[in-house]
This record gives sequence, structure tokens and C-alpha cells, in this order.
Amino acid sequence: MKIIDGKTVAKKKKTLIAEEVNRLSQSGYRSPHLVAVLVGDDPASLTYVNFKVKDCEEVGFQSTFTHLKTQTSENELLEVIDDLNRDPGVDGFIVQLPLPDHIDEQKIIESISPDKDVDGFTPVSMGRMIQGLPSFLPATPYGIIQLLSEYEVETEGKSCVIIGRSNIVGTPLSILLSRKTNPGNCTVTLCHSRTGNLAEITQQADILVAALGSPRFLTGDMVKNGAVVIDVGTTRVPSEKTKSGWKLSGDVDFESVAPKCSLISPVPGGVGPMTRIALLQNTLSAFKNKHGVS
Ligand SMILES: NC(=O)c1ccc[n+]([C@@H]2O[C@H](COP(=O)([O-])OP(=O)(O)OC[C@H]3O[C@@H](n4cnc5c(N)ncnc54)[C@H](OP(=O)(O)O)[C@@H]3O)[C@@H](O)[C@H]2O)c1
Repeated sequence: MKIIDGKTVAKKKKTLIAEEVNRLSQSGYRSPHLVAVLVGDDPASLTYVNFKVKDCEEVGFQSTFTHLKTQTSENELLEVIDDLNRDPGVDGFIVQLPLPDHIDEQKIIESISPDKDVDGFTPVSMGRMIQGLPSFLPATPYGIIQLLSEYEVETEGKSCVIIGRSNIVGTPLSILLSRKTNPGNCTVTLCHSRTGNLAEITQQADILVAALGSPRFLTGDMVKNGAVVIDVGTTRVPSEKTKSGWKLSGDVDFESVAPKCSLISPVPGGVGPMTRIALLQNTLSAFKNKHGVS
């Protein structure tokens, strides 16, 4: 059994991005600019946005953190987005989810200009992805695809089972892995809370992705010997061992699953670091698209 080292892969990719930013700067271009919009003070969201800002600094991007009050109305947020859509100095922006209940998340996503949609969540980005056209790929599936590629996981003709069908992870990943590309050409089964006989299905998987948000849900008896297991879950669970009083738990019961796997991604240190890299890659693409740089 081998453990996927997402941190090391992410570090390597980050260096490549920084080198490209440096080359662009030597050719007279300004830095790519990412804006992160956060509404409210959800601690996990705040942590994620701070990481994104830090990542930008590390690769030489410009970044702006637009932190809005929880009480911000939907219209006020739409105005902020409208300004960002029009601002020529902004290459891409994200609106950190989840949003407070009084704001319609779908309406907000649909208001983002597709050429600045570096989270890849708009219907235009999704539609382009489904048709195999160049598009911004949602960060987590994009990161997972790159991990599979980095570890030379054979996907063609393999059976892939994904647990979780969200618009940001499971559904787009199912599309990417079933496309006629490499990585891809998998036979994908997308499972969810209404799936019957889940264990029978997961036991058939060569590649098994757990993305449901239920700590240690996937146990060893649900996994075929030799499977590749990707753990996407990140749930904060209480911990007496950490200063903060919590730690991140994945959706995989690592102790019982790992011994059966050929390859497994841990939490933390697996998919998470690559999700952050994918956002940087999308922002760089947005910048290059805008400036006609290949
Ligand atoms: N590492 C990263 O970078 C990263 C990025 C994004 C998300 N995440 C983590 O990944 C997890 C999933 O996130 P998400 O946004 O995709 O979650 P989500 O929107 O809550 O979707 C969860 C999905 O799991 C399914 N599900 C829930 N319980 C199930 C069960 N018992 N059996 C089978 N399917 C079940 C749901 O089915 P229904 O559709 O039927 O409700 C739903 O499709 C969370 O822990 C999140 O924090 C991590």
C-alpha cells in the first residue's frame, strides 16, 4: 500500500506556477489577480479563504480578500459581483460557499462571468466541461484528476465508484473520469444517499472516491483488495489532542481501508492541497485567456 502525498505534488505544481508568473512578469505582464469574496464569519470558510490568499502570495499572484458582513443582502452581493465581472484588473474571483441562508446560492453562481469563473461552478463552465470543451474545471475534481495522473493510476477500462453527487465534487468528477481522455475512460458509478446495496457496489470498484462528508464512513469491508481509494471528506470533529479542539476527519476509515488498497489518499494531506492548486491553475488560465498568452 502506498500513500498519496498531496502536499508534495502540490508543492511541485506551485513551483511550476510561480515560475510561469515570473516568466510573464519578465515579458512585461502584471501579476494574475484573484479575488476571494466571503460573506460572514464561518470559521472553516475563513480558514479556506486565508489559505487561498496565502497561496496567491506564494506564487506571485495579486490577491484581494473581500470580507462582507453576514447581513449583506443578496442584492448587495450581486452588486459586488457585477463590479468584479467588469473590473479589468481582476482575472478571476470566487465566492466562498456556503452562503448565509438569506442568499440564493444558485443565483449568485449564475451571476459570475464565465470568463472569471475560476471555481468552475457556473452552468457555462459545467456545460463546457460536459462537452469536453476547454473550461475552468471545479477545483477538487481537477485536483483529483491530477493526483491520479501524477501517481500514474491506470483509469482506462477501470470501474470507478464515487460516493456523493454534489455539483462541486461527485458529479463533475464522474464526468471527468468517464470522458474519452486520459485520465478518463472509466466506467463510472455515481452513488448517493438513495443508493441501495452501496457496499456491494463499492466492493466492485478499482477506483473508489468517498465524497459524502460523513467521517470514517467507508470501511475496509466495503473495499476490494488492491483498490485505489481517494478520500475527499473534510469534516471537523472534536479532538482533545489539538489546540483548536478539533481535527479534520476524512470519509474513509483509514485503519481498516488502507491495508486493502494499492494506493490511498489521506486526510489531511491528500486531496485538500491539490484543490488549492487547481484554483491557482484556473486563475492563471483566466489571466492567459484574457491576455492571449498561450
Ligand atoms: N478536500 C477538499 O478540498 C474538499 C473540497 C470540497 C469538499 N470537501 C469535503 O467533501 C465532502 C463532501 O462535500 P460536498 O460538498 O460534495 O458534500 P454535499 O454537497 O453535502 O454532498 C454530499 C453527497 O453525499 C451523499 N451522501 C450523503 N450521505 C450518504 C450516504 N450515507 N451514502 C451515500 N451517499 C451519501 C449525498 O447524497 P444526496 O445527493 O442523495 O443527498 C450527496 O450527494 C465534505 O466533507 C466536504 O467538506 C473537501
